[in-house]
Amino acid sequence: MQETNSVTKRTSVNGKTKMLGVIGNPIEHSVSPQLHNTLSITLQKNTMYVPFRVMRENLATAVNGLYALGFLGFNVTIPYKENVMEYIDEISKEAKLIGAVNTVKIHKEKFYGFNTDADGFAKSFTGETGEKFAGKKVVILGAGGAARAIAIKIALEDAGRICIVNRTKSKAKALVEVINKNVGGKAEFFGMSESEELMKQSDIIINTTSVGMYPNIESCPVSENFKFASWQIVYDVVYNPSKTKLINLAQSCGCKTVNGLGMLYYQGIYAWQIWMDCKIKEDVLDKVYKMFVKDVYGNLNYTIRAR
Ligand code: ATR
Repeated sequence: MQETNSVTKRTSVNGKTKMLGVIGNPIEHSVSPQLHNTLSITLQKNTMYVPFRVMRENLATAVNGLYALGFLGFNVTIPYKENVMEYIDEISKEAKLIGAVNTVKIHKEKFYGFNTDADGFAKSFTGETGEKFAGKKVVILGAGGAARAIAIKIALEDAGRICIVNRTKSKAKALVEVINKNVGGKAEFFGMSESEELMKQSDIIINTTSVGMYPNIESCPVSENFKFASWQIVYDVVYNPSKTKLINLAQSCGCKTVNGLGMLYYQGIYAWQIWMDCKIKEDVLDKVYKMFVKDVYGNLNYTIRAR
């Protein structure tokens, strides 16, 4: 894939069309418009989803502008998932814990904030591996925004041990403190030098760093000589390229692997369900997922249910 430029075809926009969108900076790489416009066509909803690049100094004006224009809701992406919280009237418990909002619903003159990244991750993980987190030993590489959502979700789902490993150890420490204070004392923090020893003792390894992401596709967050055990599960939040060095390495050791496209997909699905107050049926989800994968990866031979 590397670059996505495709445009989802719509039949019409009319006076009754309701608006949705995403704010962030940069925004050109976002594939959420493809997903949500495919959803509106498939589910025959008269909605349209548009990306908006917003400068920091215009964030408040942009958020109020979306309200003034009658938007049903919007997504928030990097770098505003934390800053946007100051404009939200009611924030869900999970989003408060994660400290970030990626989905806003506008209803009766109020902004409601949610974080669907965590549920999107859990749904894609369980859907693609058939496994859950209860009692499992998990290593998370990274301590940024994605790590926060993932680590808190895994803690809420009762993992046995959560090791947060980060280049900047103080950020790993801060995340561990949030988890242990709010969810239970199962998290520990480490520096990168300890990652391989920890990975050997874990059931699930999750890369939340951007290492290996296009265009730096030759980078890998673990040493290329590292040997995973075949029963370990390796999850990489990076989805471009579809197979990072980490995923290739894990597959060569016989591991189940998952990339981040499913997380991206399901965070969008959960956002849509919040805006539309509906539950999308599983057969529709499968159909839209196939279209989404094709939209993102083109004709690349990507296995949706990875191994
Ligand atoms: P996101 O919202 O996608 O998680 P982020 O909040 O900027 O993005 O977090 C990026 C994560 O990738 C961080 O954990 C970062 O480590 P630092 O906290 O030390 O910055 C990690 N990361 C990015 N580039 C890295 C690299 N080259 N090596 C190791 N870790 C890296």
